[in-house]
Amino acid sequence: MSKAHFGLIGLGVMGENLVLNAERNGFSSVVYNRTFSKTQDFLNGRGAGKSIQGAKDLQDFVNKLERPRRILMMVKAGAATDAVIQKISPYLQEGDLLIDGGNSQFADTERRVAELESKSFGYIGMGVSGGAKGALEGPSMMPGGTKSSYDAIESLLNKMAAQVDDGSCVCYIGPGGSGHFVKTVHNGIEYGIEQILAESYDLMKRVSGMSGEQMANVMSYWNQTEELSSYLVEITETCLRTKDPVDGDDLVEKIMDKAGQKGTGLWTVISALELGAAVPTIYASLNARVMSSMKSKREEAQLILKGPSIENFDLGDISNGMSPLMDAVVLSTIASYAQGMEILSIASAEYNYNLEMPSIAQIWKGGCIIRSKLLKRIQDAFNNDPQLSNLLLDPWFADQINRRLPGLAKVISCASNSGIPVPCFSSTLDYINSFRTSRLPQNLVQAMRDCFGSHTYERVDKEGDFHTEWLN
Ligand code: 6PG
Repeated sequence: MSKAHFGLIGLGVMGENLVLNAERNGFSSVVYNRTFSKTQDFLNGRGAGKSIQGAKDLQDFVNKLERPRRILMMVKAGAATDAVIQKISPYLQEGDLLIDGGNSQFADTERRVAELESKSFGYIGMGVSGGAKGALEGPSMMPGGTKSSYDAIESLLNKMAAQVDDGSCVCYIGPGGSGHFVKTVHNGIEYGIEQILAESYDLMKRVSGMSGEQMANVMSYWNQTEELSSYLVEITETCLRTKDPVDGDDLVEKIMDKAGQKGTGLWTVISALELGAAVPTIYASLNARVMSSMKSKREEAQLILKGPSIENFDLGDISNGMSPLMDAVVLSTIASYAQGMEILSIASAEYNYNLEMPSIAQIWKGGCIIRSKLLKRIQDAFNNDPQLSNLLLDPWFADQINRRLPGLAKVISCASNSGIPVPCFSSTLDYINSFRTSRLPQNLVQAMRDCFGSHTYERVDKEGDFHTEWLN
């Protein structure tokens, strides 16, 4: 049998779908899974009749691949990835390339690139977005590592990726762990948008008393607008329309209100704090998941801590997309993207990633979870002004802010009068209001710091560092 073009380790659902995608695009493949029975099941099932062979062990796997070998690892991020690298390394030869397609921490990827390259192997850390369906039909891919390693897989990735009007949803991201860094930030934005849509659902349900069907209709309306047309709005509509097969009730209402997380949102926030990037909307979405997981404490607190009752408030007409609520959703969504792009541009300078912001927006336009029409505007904004310091300053986005800020503020005031938490909406309003305020009250913070700790302060009327003996 002739040697295969492409190798895959890890037959989870993502791995299976990616190898089927590669094979469909003309790359004969070989697969390896720690449990051989899983490999056999795959070859007898979804892999049957395709140019896909199985391997019993890693030696056999490596032998079945043409050189230089191109091996995609789809295993659990962390120790499992290190274990696979350690086990396969003795069989690799100079120029062979390992690609990590999991959600790895970018610092781990930095370390692995350096280690593997010191042994003359190639290593690519690649963010893959799009869930199981995307993996099969065309994901968005964010590969980072040495450019020559990327060149060896460019044609494969170009064919496997989702396609949009201006090309495929993959490009060389940059050196080291940059691919996984960009994927991490993608997920931070994903957390933000998911929470924003959840907040809008809560208000529609609790303030306006809307049914699942009515809320789904609003999502359908939003999904037809330039500002909100997106995969996440589309699946929110689907979730809201889905009924429990047992009793026909809205299925969403039967789901426990505790959100899980695998770490990427947390890593986004940690990186943002370390880099000095302001990401309040994204942070609020992470914190909302943390609060949601404290179910029993919240049940206890509800009996003790009293709040106002629900205020009768007009969130807008269903037939025109509930205008003030749509304002809140649009501005918070824009803020999530703006904050994500800002982390990327600060990280690019700090870590020498040399990230191309328009290209990142371009490869997120298709295949990935945060794909949306807004990404075309984001791509245009960074193409028009490569030095753009914050997306909100682009004329199109600034116009959205100026038109929609009163709506956002109204919705927040309704929510707070009704005692309903809207962490992403409120953080977005504070973010925008802070950003557009040239003089903030941190002069007083500086005074306090100098008063108790002699930390000194700068003045607005003259140069230098100053200290005052405040307590004399
Ligand atoms: C994607 C998703 C994917 C996965 C996340 C979800 O882009 O395809 O982001 O990577 O669904 O791991 O993350 P949480 O479990 O942390 O929500």
